[in-house]
Amino acid sequence: MGNIVLIGFMGTGKSTVGKRLAQSLAWDFVDTDCEIGEVTSLSVSEIFRRHGETRFRSEESIVVARLSQQERLVIATGGGTVLNPLNWNALAQKGIVIALHASLETILDRIGHKNDRPLLKGPREEIEKLWSKRQECYAQANFIVDTSKKNVDEVVREILTWLERRMEDELNEVAKD
Ligand code: S3P
Repeated sequence: MGNIVLIGFMGTGKSTVGKRLAQSLAWDFVDTDCEIGEVTSLSVSEIFRRHGETRFRSEESIVVARLSQQERLVIATGGGTVLNPLNWNALAQKGIVIALHASLETILDRIGHKNDRPLLKGPREEIEKLWSKRQECYAQANFIVDTSKKNVDEVVREILTWLERRMEDELNEVAKD
């Protein structure tokens, strides 16, 4: 059994959903941003401010490489983690990749008032450009859930239902052989 990897833009609910999903499965939950924070003893915004995005991305890849070796983890990635194909490949090798989607409106509503994300500081057009550019990458996931109009329980239920169906399909395949 590998890991379940949650990907998607900032504010799509990866950490909140990930924690609840891990509870339901009785698996451990990890958040790549928190892991980076622990390793560097700096918050994400401090790393960006003091050392720049390049340093953040290299810390991120180190964390991803380590977590990808483990099993039965629900991993909430940062919004930019899987844009690096090396990170994607490492995470997908033993993991099921689930993308959380949300409309830009929903994202701005959710994070507008508590925005500590370095990449969401710019004007709306810039955020929109980033959001649009990344959709193609997120769309490569094994499963996509639109979280825009759903609460955490509904999103988790949708993921669990999909996982059950996937396992049934796999068992049926094995039985056929
Ligand atoms: C980023 C998303 C953030 C964090 C960093 C960069 C991105 O994580 O990793 O600020 O490039 O989208 P969340 O998606 O958890 O906000």
